[in-house]
Formats: sequence, C-alpha cells, structure tokens
Amino acid sequence: MRRIVCQEFGPPDRLKLDESPDPRPAAGEVLVRVHAAGVSFVDGLIAGGMYQLKPPLPFTPGLVGAGEVLAAGPGVPGLAAGRRVVGSSFGMGGYSSHWVLPADAVVPLPDAVTYEVAATAVESYATMLFALTRRTAVQPGEWVLVLGAGGGIGLAAVDVARTLGARVIAAASTPAKRAAALAAGAQVAIDYETEDLKTRVREITGAGAALIIDPVGDPFAEPALRSLQAFGRYLVVGFTGGSIPRLPLNRVLLDNRSIVGVDWGAWSRQDPAANQALIADVLGRVAAGELHPVAPVTYPLERAAEALNGLARRQIAGKLALLP
Ligand SMILES: NC(=O)c1ccc[n+]([C@@H]2O[C@H](COP(=O)([O-])OP(=O)(O)OC[C@H]3O[C@@H](n4cnc5c(N)ncnc54)[C@H](OP(=O)(O)O)[C@@H]3O)[C@@H](O)[C@H]2O)c1
Repeated sequence: MRRIVCQEFGPPDRLKLDESPDPRPAAGEVLVRVHAAGVSFVDGLIAGGMYQLKPPLPFTPGLVGAGEVLAAGPGVPGLAAGRRVVGSSFGMGGYSSHWVLPADAVVPLPDAVTYEVAATAVESYATMLFALTRRTAVQPGEWVLVLGAGGGIGLAAVDVARTLGARVIAAASTPAKRAAALAAGAQVAIDYETEDLKTRVREITGAGAALIIDPVGDPFAEPALRSLQAFGRYLVVGFTGGSIPRLPLNRVLLDNRSIVGVDWGAWSRQDPAANQALIADVLGRVAAGELHPVAPVTYPLERAAEALNGLARRQIAGKLALLP
C-alpha cells in the first residue's frame, strides 16, 4: 500500500510518502481500498502536534476516507467485499491506499454520493449537524452568523443552517470564499477583514444574530459576540485564527447570551454508535438532495503537504481531497 507517514510533528513538508505491504483486517475490523481521503485543517493541526490528541509516532494522518471494502475480519457481518463505505477514525490513517478500521468506524455509502464528496463532507457536516441539532436547536427564520464561511466547516454550517430553516450571514476574507458561501445558501456576505462585524450584523438583522458559528476565533470573536441578540447563542467550533480568544464575560451576562462548546470528535469517541447514526443521517440527506456539499478540489496522495499548506495559508475556498 501507499500511504503518507508523519514521522515527527512539524509542518506538512515533513510528511513522507511510504510504500509497505498491504495490511490485513483482524477480528472486528475492515480493510478499505481508499478512493478519496478528506483533507482538513484538523489534519494539519494533528501532524503539527498542535491538536488536543497527539497520536504515537509514526502515524498516517487522515480522519476520513471513502472507498470500497476489500475484506472484513471475523465477526463483521454486513460489510462484504465491494461494499461502498466511508470511514472516519481519530485513530487516523485515511491518507492511504489501504486502510484498516474498526467496523464501527465505517458507514455504508449511498450510491448517489461520490467517494470524493463523502470523504470531504463527513467531518464538517457531522460537526455542524451535531452542533445545530444536539448542542443547540436552530429555529426557522433565525439569523445565523457564520465566521470563516468559505472554509470546510463554514460552508457546511451555511448549508445545514439553511436546510434547518435559518437565514445566514456569511463572513469571509476573499471574494471567492464569499461567493462560495452565497452559492451554499447564505443570504448576505460580509468581508470581515474590512467591515465592522457588529455594525453590519445589526444593520442586516435589526436585533442582532440569534446564533454565531465560530471556527476562527480571533480577531473576530469579540465583535461577533457583541453582534449577538438577547438570548443568542455563540457556538465555539475552532481557532484557525491562531490564538484562543479571551472574551469579556459581561458580554455573555448582558442580554442572557450563551456560549456553547462544540466538540464532535470527543462525542464521536464517547458514543461511536450515535456517531455512526449521525454520519448515516448526513449521507442520507446528501443522497436525498437535502444537503449540498461541494465537490472538492482533488490532489494525488503525494501532494498531501501542498493541500495542507493551502489550508494553513488560508488560500482554499471549499474542500480538498487526496486520491490515493
Ligand atoms: N469543534 C469541532 O467539533 C470541530 C470539528 C471539525 C473541525 N473543527 C475546527 O474548525 C476549524 C475550521 O476547520 P475547517 O475545516 O473549516 O478549516 P478550513 O477549511 O481551513 O477553513 C477555516 C477558515 O478559517 C479562516 N481563517 C482565519 N484566519 C485564519 C488563519 N490564520 N489560518 C487559516 N485559516 C484562517 C479562513 O477563512 P477566511 O480567510 O475567510 O478568514 C479559512 O477559510 C479548525 O480549527 C478545526 O480544527 C472543529
């Protein structure tokens, strides 16, 4: 098999392409021939040793991959060779032509969903469906402000919020990212590098945003918090801006606002069965045309570092996949 290996924590350029014998599944595991592996910001954080989970070295990055089952170990009913599946595991290994995973980390893939879309939609859409149905409940007609709206989490947030009936304001730094967010269903787009978030959100909504989805943090977190309406909720999703915001809690007390943490990864590890059901729900909604993840830009496996650098340098609108 061919795979990307992280031998030491550091920037993506230190990742190596490796060839080794194909693995075999043990009891309770499946071997998947990976056709597409999702590339996400988290993969770069993990390879850089900057994520809350530090896997033992060496390891193969890649939280999500889609492909066909080649073989199943003993005790794995219902996942015969040839079955199209998507796998997701914080044990990682997706940047690989052949991937052995626990059977409970694999979900059958509807025929209508391509490997590329599945590999790149699962992480961001599962996070957003988890956030908007289990960490808070978005109400039809509510104004939702999405930061980093042209990125992976951002575009999924726009799409899921719209599908659940909300109105979306997309904030992003480039015309391409704002155009992608508008195409995903946002009503309005703000250039948060040059426009004042609080002023613009108040102009658009009157009372303020009912909900903020924040995968970015500084320097936009405090102006976003100040744009929140009474009883509004602020969902903390990530910190691509680099530093962890320190927010004035009087702005939470005033007007009965709430700050809500979202950690899909922790929940998925605590309750794998519920996570499998959530991913199946995402894929079913994509197959039914209710959710609309964009097709990713694709790279060959050996260009994994280039793909990760594009995300880290803030250059990508939408999603990226590796084709092992
Ligand atoms: N909490 C959870 O359960 C969960 C699950 C999945 C991912 N996440 C986290 O969510 C965050 C976003 O992930 P993603 O997949 O959406 O990433 P992404 O596709 O790279 O998008 C992130 C966006 O952040 C913005 N950004 C602002 N400052 C940046 C900087 N200095 N460097 C890079 N990007 C910057 C960029 O938009 P602009 O250029 O428009 O500002 C970029 O498009 C990550 O921190 C990830 O770890 C959390």
